[in-house]
Amino acid sequence: MTQREHWGTRLGFLAATAGSAIGLGSLWKFPYSTGANGGGLFVLAYVLFTFFIGIPLFTAELIMGRHSQRSPVGAFSSLSNYSQNWKMVGWLSVLVNFLILSYYSVVAGWAVNYTLMSLNHFTSNKTPEQIGRTFETMYASGGINIFWFFIFMLMTVGVVYGGVRKGIEYWSRLLMPILLTILIILMIYSMTLSGFPKALHFIFYPDYSKLTASGMLEALGLSFYTLSVGMGIILTYGSYMRKQEDIPKTALTIGIVDVMISLMASLMIFPIIFTFGFEPAEGPGLLFKVMPVLFEKLPATLILSTLFFMLVVFTALTSTISIFEVQVATFIELFNWSRRKAVLWLGLAVFVFGIPSALSGTKAMFPDWEAIYGKTFFTTVDYVCSNWILPINGILTAFFAGWLLDAKLKEAEFIEGSRLSYLFRPWAFLIKWVAPFAILLVILQKSGIIDLDA
Ligand code: PHE
Repeated sequence: MTQREHWGTRLGFLAATAGSAIGLGSLWKFPYSTGANGGGLFVLAYVLFTFFIGIPLFTAELIMGRHSQRSPVGAFSSLSNYSQNWKMVGWLSVLVNFLILSYYSVVAGWAVNYTLMSLNHFTSNKTPEQIGRTFETMYASGGINIFWFFIFMLMTVGVVYGGVRKGIEYWSRLLMPILLTILIILMIYSMTLSGFPKALHFIFYPDYSKLTASGMLEALGLSFYTLSVGMGIILTYGSYMRKQEDIPKTALTIGIVDVMISLMASLMIFPIIFTFGFEPAEGPGLLFKVMPVLFEKLPATLILSTLFFMLVVFTALTSTISIFEVQVATFIELFNWSRRKAVLWLGLAVFVFGIPSALSGTKAMFPDWEAIYGKTFFTTVDYVCSNWILPINGILTAFFAGWLLDAKLKEAEFIEGSRLSYLFRPWAFLIKWVAPFAILLVILQKSGIIDLDA
């Protein structure tokens, strides 16, 4: 086997891993899920799940990846002494990556489209309501969706083809700081809007009457989604990690930044919602309907709006390359495919599977899907992945890391290169006793097997 490529620099590794975590999950999904689930309590659950379950899992994945030097299938297989069942868990990660990439790239395609629309100043002389409706028009245009989805897939394929250092690391380092800056500026501006107090109340006031089991499962799934855990991504990135890198510190830093970005995105979006009379529960179009309204009020609309959507495209890209890399790395490793072959065939497969998602706003494919399943093809795939496969994969990973993985190995890997070795015990406790049981509880409650409300 050829020698595994490793990250070039510590900052590059951090930027790439943060780039994987920070993406449409925080900017696009977190705000509309918060809106749909009534705010406050959902946000609180999300934050708690992230700290007590998500970050420990993140750590576990880095440990498993760095120790095994493999992608999920090989890692679960070799760390379990070649058990076929655990190998299947690795395959589950590859599967969920495939499914998520197929519709995630459709959303990223919308952002590419919005970049171009911004260049045309599509908001000029329009009311907030008309600006919002532009999204519906785009969503219902099958050809436009497919076209931008395809363009975005080409971008992902191109970067992953470049490999770990040249492709993934280079772009992440360059673009993450720019995104952070523009996000902070927009958030501060949003805070001056008249709807800000209402937004603050909505995001942070926990209203206990709104607690539902499905909301909890969604908060848990969303926490995994925004962190990129429960799907072998962090494990794969951990396998490119060098021994001198600090595992717990990386997990904590990225977890905290990830939560901050999600909250910042909400602080940026909800004041606009409450100022201009949008609905918090607008659904997946929320980000695209609301942000242009803000840009239209600001000076230099054209530049700001174009830059913003361009950065959304780039954060989506630093995430999709991590999602795609898992699939590519697996095929290279297990079947001895060349990177080129893996990238091309898998890219094509993802694109084909994503077509019905791209056409969800039209009736061009599976016209009765929504009437039968209550969700469009697009939202069905998203729902199954985020609410079921991620928690299930998460619980299996937590169980594996907490109960089966050799204690000495875990400790050695946790401590190696780390200045936070005193966190080993708390982590070992969380991953063994808290994460698996908490996830189990949420899943059982959601599936109706137990009912804690009664
Ligand atoms: N965590 C990233 C995000 O929030 C990317 C991602 C999403 C990774 C879903 C895996 C699954 O956008």
